[in-house]
This record gives sequence, C-alpha cells and structure tokens, in this order.
Amino acid sequence: MNLQDSNILLLGANGGIGSALATQLSAKGARLLLAGLGQQQLDELAQTLSNPARGIHVDITRAEERSKLLDLALDYLGNIDVLINAAGVLDFLPFADLSPERIELTFRVNTLSPILLIQAALPAMQAAGKGRIVNIGSIFGSIAFPYFSIYSASKFALRGFSEALRRELDGSGVGVSYVAPRATRTPLNDARVMAMGEATRMNMDTPERVAAQIVRVIERDRDEAYLGQPESLFVRINHLMPRLVDRALRGQRRIMEAFARP
Ligand SMILES: NC(=O)c1ccc[n+]([C@@H]2O[C@H](COP(=O)([O-])OP(=O)(O)OC[C@H]3O[C@@H](n4cnc5c(N)ncnc54)[C@H](OP(=O)(O)O)[C@@H]3O)[C@@H](O)[C@H]2O)c1
Repeated sequence: MNLQDSNILLLGANGGIGSALATQLSAKGARLLLAGLGQQQLDELAQTLSNPARGIHVDITRAEERSKLLDLALDYLGNIDVLINAAGVLDFLPFADLSPERIELTFRVNTLSPILLIQAALPAMQAAGKGRIVNIGSIFGSIAFPYFSIYSASKFALRGFSEALRRELDGSGVGVSYVAPRATRTPLNDARVMAMGEATRMNMDTPERVAAQIVRVIERDRDEAYLGQPESLFVRINHLMPRLVDRALRGQRRIMEAFARP
C-alpha cells in the first residue's frame, strides 16, 4: 500500500511503539486519527506530526467509546485505509498472583476489544473494497513464556483470530497483517521486566526500529511478520519441536522467577 494520502486509525497511539508509528506513518504522508487513553498526550503527539492528525481519547474496552471512535474516524478520515491495533497491557507475574480482574482486563484490551473494533469497522472497509487491518501481536504469541501466561495467551488468541480473518477476507481487498515484535524498550515493560531481560540476555529493540518494520509490513501488504533474529527462528522451532524450547526455557525460568515475584 502506498501510504501517501492514506487514512489511518491508530489505537495505542500514546504508547512507545504507537507514537513511533505515528511519527513514521505521518512522515510517509498518512493522515492519522490517534486513539488512546491520555487526551493531552495525544494532542501533543498530533502537534509534532508532519501531516494533519487528530487525537481522541478512547478506552478501547468500552463499547460506547469504540462506537464513538468509529463514527469520528469515518467523519474525520472519510474512510479507513489502515486500522492498527497497538494498544496493550502486560503483567510479568506468577499465574497464581494475577487477580481475576487483571486477567479479564488483559484479554479485553489485547484481544476482545480489538476484535470487536475490527468487526464494527469492517463493513465500511469491505464496502470500499480495500484496506488493511494490522494487529500487533508478540513473539510471546507464538512462544508462550512462563510468568507472562495471560499476556502470552491473549496474543496467541489475537494471532489465531488474525489468521482466520485473513483467510476469510481473502479476495475481498481487505488484508489482515499480524506483526509480532520481540521485546521492545517501551513503558509496557516495567523495571522488573527490564532487569529480567538483562539477566537473561533478552534482545530488546527500540520502538523506532519496530515501528519501521511495521511500516514496511503495511507498504508491502504482508500477512505476517515475526521481528528479530533469532526470535523468528525460535517461533518455527517452538512450532516443530516444542520440547526443545521447554528445555531451553527450563534454565531461564529460575532466573525469571526471581524477578517475577515483586
Ligand atoms: N514493548 C514490548 O516489549 C512489546 C513486544 C511485543 C509486542 N508488543 C505489543 O506492541 C503493542 C504496543 O505496545 P508498547 O510496547 O508500545 O506498549 P506501551 O508503550 O505500554 O503502549 C500501550 C498503549 O496501550 C494503550 N492502552 C492501554 N489500555 C488501553 C485501553 N483500555 N484503551 C485504549 N488504549 C489503551 C496505552 O494508552 P495510554 O498511553 O494513553 O495510557 C498505551 O499507550 C502492544 O500490543 C504490545 O502488546 C510490545
């Protein structure tokens, strides 16, 4: 897709990856509707962009706010060429320590609300006969990590949904991309995750690098991208030989456990 003069609805625009994406997409000539929780931050971001953009507060878990967002998106953008789901929450904790509320919220923010937003946005995109839905997953959505159980599960579900929808929409003109970054230096990862990442020598990308790869996925109309080596190779190994990955993670689990208990 040529991004010049494209209309993009970006969820999670205030985030580390979201704000880097906003900057890079705007520089390519896209018009953006920036959606997230903090209105002031969204307004400030909109002012830094090279192309017209507008920020709108939305709690993606609330049906009435999603509906208002889509009305505004169609009004402001005309049509949605690209819908990017880059909001997310994460807990790095033993499964037993996660509250039922946090478990529910993680699925609502990472999985259920993006799915419902896509369902509401699709009729207009299908009527236009073009467009792309971009779901930001994670390497943890293919390799399930201890102490990230619910986050991993929410991204596994998002990956499955993206694959099914892509196959369902095949030939409609509306594409579906699932992009899985590896660990990235953003506020999503608190000090404990960062310390664990260092102790286990986890590769960490900058949000700018991840955003550049997501932009390329959109420009090239790619269905799937797993970012980083050797992580994307490990995704294949985990698929073919999960016991091998069990063994590799057994050693790391002890280190991870020390950081996962606050
Ligand atoms: N960072 C990583 O290591 C990493 C790795 C792989 C995949 N990812 C994925 O990449 C995406 C972006 O993550 P990030 O690293 O940029 O995280 P981030 O900096 O924490 O940004 C996440 C954004 O989600 C928004 N958000 C949270 N709850 C929301 C809600 N109920 N309604 C609307 N927006 C909500 C937040 O909005 P406000 O800022 O306005 O509060 C925040 O800007 C996520 O899907 C994440 O799972 C991240």
